[in-house]
Amino acid sequence: MKIQAIKGMRDLLPADTVWFQRLEAAVREVFGRYNFEEIRTPVVEPAELFTRSVGEETDIVGKEMYTFADKDGAQLTLRPEATASAVRAYVEHRMWERPGLTRWYYIGPMFRRERPQKGRYRQFYQIGAEVMGGDSALIDYELLAMLRMLLERCGIGGAELVLNSVGCAKDRPAYHAALRAALAERLGELCADCQRRAQTNPLRVLDCKVPADQPIIAGLPQIGDYLDSDCRAHFDQLRALLDANGIAYRVDPRLVRGLDYYTSTAFEFVHGALGSQNALLGGGRYDGLAQALGAPAQAGGGIGFAIGEDRFVLAMQAGAGAGGDAATGPDAVAIPLTAAELQPVLELSERLRRAGLRIEVAEPGRKLGKALELAAKQHARFAVLVGAAEAAAARCQLKRLATGDQSEVPFAQLPARLGAGV
Ligand code: HAM
Repeated sequence: MKIQAIKGMRDLLPADTVWFQRLEAAVREVFGRYNFEEIRTPVVEPAELFTRSVGEETDIVGKEMYTFADKDGAQLTLRPEATASAVRAYVEHRMWERPGLTRWYYIGPMFRRERPQKGRYRQFYQIGAEVMGGDSALIDYELLAMLRMLLERCGIGGAELVLNSVGCAKDRPAYHAALRAALAERLGELCADCQRRAQTNPLRVLDCKVPADQPIIAGLPQIGDYLDSDCRAHFDQLRALLDANGIAYRVDPRLVRGLDYYTSTAFEFVHGALGSQNALLGGGRYDGLAQALGAPAQAGGGIGFAIGEDRFVLAMQAGAGAGGDAATGPDAVAIPLTAAELQPVLELSERLRRAGLRIEVAEPGRKLGKALELAAKQHARFAVLVGAAEAAAARCQLKRLATGDQSEVPFAQLPARLGAGV
């Protein structure tokens, strides 16, 4: 039987990876300017890391994690997200003891057993950034400014910033009480999951996806009406900074995000070209998470986001239109006409590659017409033909494939001719 990739997990072929590389190059450049540094954490973590940080009642932990028992019985999980890992690493390495804030970014695969569809996969890629050690609104603003720069740099227009405050630890008891009271009146009409969540973690009722529950959810109390003065002041400061610096946003009092660790600022960027999976990225503040994972109070708060790389690439492709085909061929295919010219062609090709050119060497002894046809189909710009006479004179026939123009060029002049593309 044929073996295929697992459902929801796909191969990224070069026509895709070239886009991922473009985005990652832009990320390294832009995030670097804001003084972020890269971290790489394990893909597998103790299951408890996610149950404790993302939360037992979330869809991610409750339904979507790939968790398995290791040979020694330890419960391990393929990471569904990496904020928990970053904060674990921040705590494990006592990063708050170093001067200044910790600014990290990461790029890598995440795993969630969701129903696959366009823009939603079981193995997907995230580009995340986390700032730990502080809780000022300036940090939140700078993170959003960095995202604006990345979107501009990648040519993505039409992404909308949606913003909310989900309240601080102090606000939660009053809000939870109000939610529970409102939910108690309609409990029998809600889905089984929400009936349970109403008791265990009422905030999670707000991101229930069951259609029949939506009219009830729309009528529930809003967190914005329960913010205490510190939390409100933080939100007002952030909005003032965004306004003063021309970053547009829409406040959505219903945006709560699907992970338990969020406090205060929460945001998403949505994009119209993505269909139903329209969240390009999401993030927010998680003050208290480091402490929940064992850090002392001075470890401070944190905020971050994760870009859905697969979706971000779709938006880049939509923005680039038909002219955006990023697939590229070699600068030249070097063709030894017979086996006797292979050695000079190999030496020439190494010299050209050292000059920065992209060269493919053809098998010697193929019919010339076939070799040229293949080079053209591979989108090579030139063919470099070397027969016995050329090899003896350290020259080649340089053929521009688009036009068929051909001229004799000494080996020594080839790097310059190919580099200039003439
Ligand atoms: P999240 O909203 O769960 O947040 O995921 C962030 C982004 O990852 C989403 O907006 C979406 O673009 C992408 N994404 C999520 N699931 C899938 C999937 N199955 N297939 C394709 N793309 C997907 C987090 O993960 C948080 N850790 C973000 C964060 C960082 N908050 C603070 N710091």
